[in-house]
Amino acid sequence: MAFLVLLAALLVLAAPPVHVVGQRKGFVSIDCGLDASSGSYTDTQTGIEYEPDDPYIDAGAGENHRLSADYDVYLRRYQTLRSFPSGVRNCYALPTVAGTKYLLRAEFEYGNYDGKNSSSLEFDLHLGANRWRTAKLPEFKDEHEVVFVAWAGWAPFCLVNTGRGTPFVSVVELRPLDAVLYPQAVRPGLFSTTYKRLNMGTSSFIRYPEDPYDRFWYPVENANPRWVNLSAPAGSIQVDITSPVPSVVLQTAVAAAGNDTALTAVTWRDDSEYSFTTLEHYADFQNTQLRQFDSYSGTVYESYKPPYLTRGTLYTVSFKAADGSYNITLVATNTSVLPPMINALEIYLLVPYENPTTLPSDFDAIMAIKKEYGVTKNWMGDPCFPTNYTWDGVKCGNTNGNTTRITSLNLSSSYLHGAVSKNFALLTALQNLDLSYNNLSGSIPDSIPSLTSLRVLNVSGNQLSDDSLCKNYNGSLIVRHDSSKSTCNKKITASRKSTVILVTSVVVAVLVVSAIVLAYFICRAKRNSAVSVVDHTRNAQLEIAPRSRTNQGDHLQDNENRRFTYKDLEKFTDNFKQFIGQGGFGVVYFGHLEDGTEVAVKMRSESSSHGLDEFLAEVQSLTKVHHRNIVSLVGYCWEKDHLALVYEYMSQGNLYDHLRGKIAAAEALNWETRVRIVLEAAQGLDYLHKGCSPPIIHRDVKSSNILLGQNLQAKVADLGLSKTYISDGHTHISATAAGTAGYMDPEYYFTGRLTESSDVYSFGVVLLEAATGEPPLVPGQGHIVQRVKQRVSTTGDIGSVADPRLGAAYDVNSMWKVVDTAMACTAESGAGRPTMGEVAAQLKDSLALEYARDNDDDRSVPASIAASDSAALMMSGFGPSAR
Ligand SMILES: *[C@@H]1O[C@H](CO)[C@@H](O)[C@H](O)[C@H]1NC(C)=O
Ligand SMILES: *[C@@H]1O[C@H](CO)[C@@H](O)[C@H](O)[C@H]1NC(C)=O
Ligand SMILES: *[C@@H]1O[C@H](CO)[C@@H](O)[C@H](O)[C@H]1NC(C)=O
Ligand SMILES: *[C@@H]1O[C@H](CO)[C@@H](O)[C@H](O)[C@H]1NC(C)=O
Ligand SMILES: *[C@@H]1O[C@H](CO)[C@@H](O)[C@H](O)[C@H]1NC(C)=O
Ligand SMILES: *[C@@H]1O[C@H](CO)[C@@H](O)[C@H](O)[C@H]1NC(C)=O
Ligand SMILES: *[C@@H]1O[C@H](CO)[C@@H](O)[C@H](O)[C@H]1NC(C)=O
Ligand SMILES: *[C@@H]1O[C@H](CO)[C@@H](O)[C@H](O)[C@H]1NC(C)=O
Ligand SMILES: *[C@@H]1O[C@H](CO)[C@@H](O)[C@H](O)[C@H]1NC(C)=O
Ligand SMILES: *[C@@H]1O[C@H](CO)[C@@H](O)[C@H](O)[C@H]1NC(C)=O
Repeated sequence: MAFLVLLAALLVLAAPPVHVVGQRKGFVSIDCGLDASSGSYTDTQTGIEYEPDDPYIDAGAGENHRLSADYDVYLRRYQTLRSFPSGVRNCYALPTVAGTKYLLRAEFEYGNYDGKNSSSLEFDLHLGANRWRTAKLPEFKDEHEVVFVAWAGWAPFCLVNTGRGTPFVSVVELRPLDAVLYPQAVRPGLFSTTYKRLNMGTSSFIRYPEDPYDRFWYPVENANPRWVNLSAPAGSIQVDITSPVPSVVLQTAVAAAGNDTALTAVTWRDDSEYSFTTLEHYADFQNTQLRQFDSYSGTVYESYKPPYLTRGTLYTVSFKAADGSYNITLVATNTSVLPPMINALEIYLLVPYENPTTLPSDFDAIMAIKKEYGVTKNWMGDPCFPTNYTWDGVKCGNTNGNTTRITSLNLSSSYLHGAVSKNFALLTALQNLDLSYNNLSGSIPDSIPSLTSLRVLNVSGNQLSDDSLCKNYNGSLIVRHDSSKSTCNKKITASRKSTVILVTSVVVAVLVVSAIVLAYFICRAKRNSAVSVVDHTRNAQLEIAPRSRTNQGDHLQDNENRRFTYKDLEKFTDNFKQFIGQGGFGVVYFGHLEDGTEVAVKMRSESSSHGLDEFLAEVQSLTKVHHRNIVSLVGYCWEKDHLALVYEYMSQGNLYDHLRGKIAAAEALNWETRVRIVLEAAQGLDYLHKGCSPPIIHRDVKSSNILLGQNLQAKVADLGLSKTYISDGHTHISATAAGTAGYMDPEYYFTGRLTESSDVYSFGVVLLEAATGEPPLVPGQGHIVQRVKQRVSTTGDIGSVADPRLGAAYDVNSMWKVVDTAMACTAESGAGRPTMGEVAAQLKDSLALEYARDNDDDRSVPASIAASDSAALMMSGFGPSAR
């Protein structure tokens, strides 16, 4: 239903301009159809600045028009409009803050802009996926408002052609409201559209600046002769500036005249199936005698006494008249001396949603992509609903309650250029992403292939850098690209096939382990024979290559995992002569293989709390895992009383020793080396999480489990506690015990669930150790995360955090990056933490910064860092020559 037609609101009034206080923060005021080149202007009556609509609507949507000359006495904002002769749905994207309450108002002044002198025009108004009103024209002007809580970073306001004329709009205004306003009018699943807002006992129309929220308060059109007008002395009514009703509105009222004991404030008819919400606003200023009445408006409020010189409001949450005939009537009680009165009232129609909406985070992400690339398709309104207006190239699914997800995005041949946006990775339910035949350059951000549900990524026909196409991707991801341009080798790894069921029975276990090892060899053999297969749709687990040739133990490569006897071990270790450490699983001895290769032999001690399960876990993990930053298994021993694992020997100890142990006392690691070590460790962990299928959670990440080889190359060790997911369907493992005090994910305490993010937390602690040189726990001083936070927030100085042994020999930004990354890793909620891939990317940046500081000549970052993934491939046994 149209608002009251009010010429006073429409015409240029003779009234002098109010003293303008300027526009309120958060107002969006759009004069549709205004020529973009003419810019914004300030309305002299309200001080509101109106701007052209171009920034809020896609280029090419609609046409600008001007009213016919007969209407040039109208206010400037009504003089122009935008009409939409083509396209069924056209939308404005209005910027909002999710969770904030808003009033959206659209005004329509036809003014014979098209010279057709139309006598009837109708079109629908949508907010997001749902219709809230039908605009009907032309009378003089139509005007509609909706009160809503923003659900995302954008609120799409759409005009939908329903075949009854060309939609158009003259003015669009968005006003943030205080959260306390309209608590009952904003219910999920319902639009509260303004039906009437009346200021009683006056002839004045009120809006901004008298109403700080810029609501329109209309005078009553045909005042009832049985009413008397009441008016309070100016300033006598005490309400706050942000009051739900401005004092100027409360200052006037109507009361029943003569001896009448009842006052019918408003009547209306509505035959729709919808119900209404009403608000009656009162403020008495005639406190001479008792005024008391019953209010009837769907709800009956008995014996109400309006408050004196301040506001009182009666709400009816849902008002539905069976016969479609509504009224609000006040009846004096028999003890009341004064007649009933009322100052103002508001009536809202509650329109239910017809459709679910796209999940807000998906909506925000795709809007960001749209803005970033300037996508011009029919990308307006809600991406998924209504279903007959869905966006080209967007497919939706996974509807859950009132929200749905974007599951497929096809931007093939869409003239995209520039870098591949990280915003694609915000569409976390994406299964298909087709970016083919665009002009994208640079590399694919790690976060995209890391999307857990992503199955197909098509980047063919772009100018992407080769190294980005050669990364190790999530096991089941198919990446389509131009193989002819790519220098990476393509192999299908075998590791995913060796899923193993652990059985505690020793006899069965022996068979199982043999089977794993056997399967591994068989698959490896297969892989080797398939090495030259170049396929488009590769399963890109490229880093599952044998141990790197650059390793300290080059020749280890020739030794497949071997089964040794206890006698062999005695021989290698010279009867366990050189004890080098104690792990969770048992003691570790130094040894030499027959060919002189140095190894570490880890014996399961009798007292070890770790049993056969852990042993099996480690064998299982290590036979599957081959990465330059994961310690390699050379072989194992399994005899009746002896379980042992034989690793490559890491001659330089571990990170803990270098930060705080004996070695540290002798020589502190410089910052560049520390960052390089943690970067390498991060790459190892990223590989466990994303390069292995099923993923492996280390569960005991700490500085003493980051081992260092010659040249201080870092490798993650001690996978004895690590676990794999039981199946792809599982998203976490329930574990009974894991980790080391100080490194343990606090979320794990509460949930008992371990995910990759638990490793990320522990790794964050390692990062802080590397930055500060301090242990995680200092008795009496709390945990390292708290200590660092405290220091950063009180001093704001990274120098207060950095290890004093570094002196000033570090790049400040590089240090900040590591500390910031550590803080992100140690976020309380696992969901808020980055992935190891993201962590590694940050550390790469940090290393580049430090490297630049340390190398003032213009050598760039060493290739092994800048393109570490492809570099590793080159060095692996299956380098480019294999293609
Ligand atoms: C427009 O239509 C109205 C009646 O609907 C008529 O009175 C008026 O003269 C028309 N104006 C023009 C310019 O055709
Ligand atoms: C979903 O919509 C229905 C009405 O359509 C509403 O009752 C319900 O509260 C809504 N749920 C959420 C989570 O918004
Ligand atoms: C009350 O005020 C309205 C609006 O100014 C006016 O139309 C009406 O005649 C007034 N009523 C009385 C009884 O004066
Ligand atoms: C109001 O009632 C009183 C007595 O009940 C009567 O004298 C008076 O005339 C009435 N006034 C009107 C305007 O009806
Ligand atoms: C107001 O509504 C009530 C209930 O529907 C009805 O009984 C009454 O007659 C109505 N009053 C007026 C003045 O319309
Ligand atoms: C006032 O009305 C109530 C019922 O609404 C009745 O019980 C009471 O007797 C009445 N009082 C007078 C003085 O009429
Ligand atoms: C979309 O569907 C609605 C109802 O399902 C229908 O009224 C409308 O005409 C359809 N629009 C288009 C463009 O098909
Ligand atoms: C994307 O759209 C193009 C045509 O524009 C089509 O050839 C291609 O198959 C689509 N991709 C997917 C994954 O559906
Ligand atoms: C692709 O981008 C490059 C570099 O920005 C540019 O030279 C080339 O003309 C673009 N090609 C197309 C088809 O837009
Ligand atoms: C991109 O690759 C996917 C998977 O192979 C395929 O379905 C899609 O059609 C490809 N897109 C184009 C435009 O060829």
